[in-house]
Amino acid sequence: MVRTIREEQGGGIGSIGVYPAGDEENVALKDGTAMHLRPIRDTDEAGLLSLYDRLSPESLYFRFFAVPDKDLGKIAYLTHVDYERRYAIVAETAGEVVGIARWEGLADRPDHVEVAFTVADEFQGRGLGSILFRRLAVLARARGIAVFEAEVLKNNERMLRVFERTGLPTATRDQGSILTILMALDPLAPPPA
Ligand SMILES: CC(C)(COP(=O)(O)OP(=O)(O)OC[C@H]1O[C@@H](n2cnc3c(N)ncnc32)[C@H](O)[C@@H]1OP(=O)(O)O)[C@@H](O)C(=O)NCCC(=O)NCCS
Repeated sequence: MVRTIREEQGGGIGSIGVYPAGDEENVALKDGTAMHLRPIRDTDEAGLLSLYDRLSPESLYFRFFAVPDKDLGKIAYLTHVDYERRYAIVAETAGEVVGIARWEGLADRPDHVEVAFTVADEFQGRGLGSILFRRLAVLARARGIAVFEAEVLKNNERMLRVFERTGLPTATRDQGSILTILMALDPLAPPPA
């Protein structure tokens, strides 16, 4: 079973919101590679599957805490969002999806969302994870979201480094091999409780 953030709340793929074309953006990595960042579409299933198919077992493990079986239903769930309580952006270059960042609303805290990030192995360590974080934070703030929450394996140094480099007020809950990281999107806010 694939672990997705808060998949249990989904109860099916749900409704698709109106595509927010204004949220698209072109950026460049530090090495000059051009990236197109855009909200995910329901037509991204093949691109997402191809990204996950190419991920190393280590990357899959860091993302899903398991090396998942291919699950087309789950891919459909991941590509169908309402662009409010569930949102994902993809990073594309040369016509391929090489990164994805998403949030899923938490039922009990309207201004908290859980986030997750995936970057293709060959693009890791080139700044794309940090770009995706910053973009997701901008889009989330515009929707009144105040806190990003992430579950991260303790030895996932890259993800932890991306979070640390944001400089945002952060609280960390130690849950054995997993850390729950809470980040306030307002740099002047106190660390989330
Ligand atoms: C975690 C992930 C999204 C980060 O994306 P990324 O594009 O690699 O991130 P960036 O390049 O922006 O930043 C990575 C940082 O980690 C550092 N880093 C790279 N390799 C490292 C290592 N082995 N140990 C410690 N830090 C490392 C980089 O130097 C960089 O820090 P810097 O900007 O200060 O130099 C990506 O690596 C990934 O998809 N991993 C597999 C899936 C995953 O772990 N998802 C997270 C689940 S929430």
